[in-house]
Amino acid sequence: MKRNTNIVLIGFMGAGKTEVGKILAKHKGFNFIDLDSLIEEEEGKSITEIFKKKGEGYFRNLETEILKKIDKNKSDIYKIKEVEKSSEINNPESKNWVISAGGGMPAFNGNIKLLKKIGTAVYLKAGAKTIYDRIKSEVHRPVLGGSGFTEADVTEKLKEREKFYEQADIIIYTEGLTAAAAAEEIGIFLH
Ligand code: S3P
Repeated sequence: MKRNTNIVLIGFMGAGKTEVGKILAKHKGFNFIDLDSLIEEEEGKSITEIFKKKGEGYFRNLETEILKKIDKNKSDIYKIKEVEKSSEINNPESKNWVISAGGGMPAFNGNIKLLKKIGTAVYLKAGAKTIYDRIKSEVHRPVLGGSGFTEADVTEKLKEREKFYEQADIIIYTEGLTAAAAAEEIGIFLH
């Protein structure tokens, strides 16, 4: 049994965690938070800047620290500083959250265990081709070298990470689904 009803969305970049998460949160009357935005607020820098100035190792530590903080506060996310600025409060009376995790978060420092502790982890799964098509025009993807990455780069990284994503409590295959349909499917599992 989970100690709370939070829903944690995990998956590769471009899996739709933020878009699906916002719809799902509204639909369930939960609040929404994107952990990347929370880290950006706490550091006063964008993720790209953090990668550039401090390196990936530093960013991965920040990711683990934020998870530990949420866990220490028994998943009461209101207790986290900067939360007001990086969240969407749909329901101020609700203690329940939809949490969008960064794409790499589950794959480092044993974070997947903490992610599953702070809520029900849902993997938004899609194939490398679909993911590549969704993110290929983006230039702010530091783990893929910024811009100019290929489908093969996505395939390789996805392969590295899949074993962590697959440890989720629930897996939703999102190929061919709109964000609203994916949110609805999660809602059906977790009603
Ligand atoms: C990352 C994904 C990003 C962000 C950072 C690193 C990754 O999050 O945390 O750029 O390693 O895959 P999104 O998946 O929310 O874009």
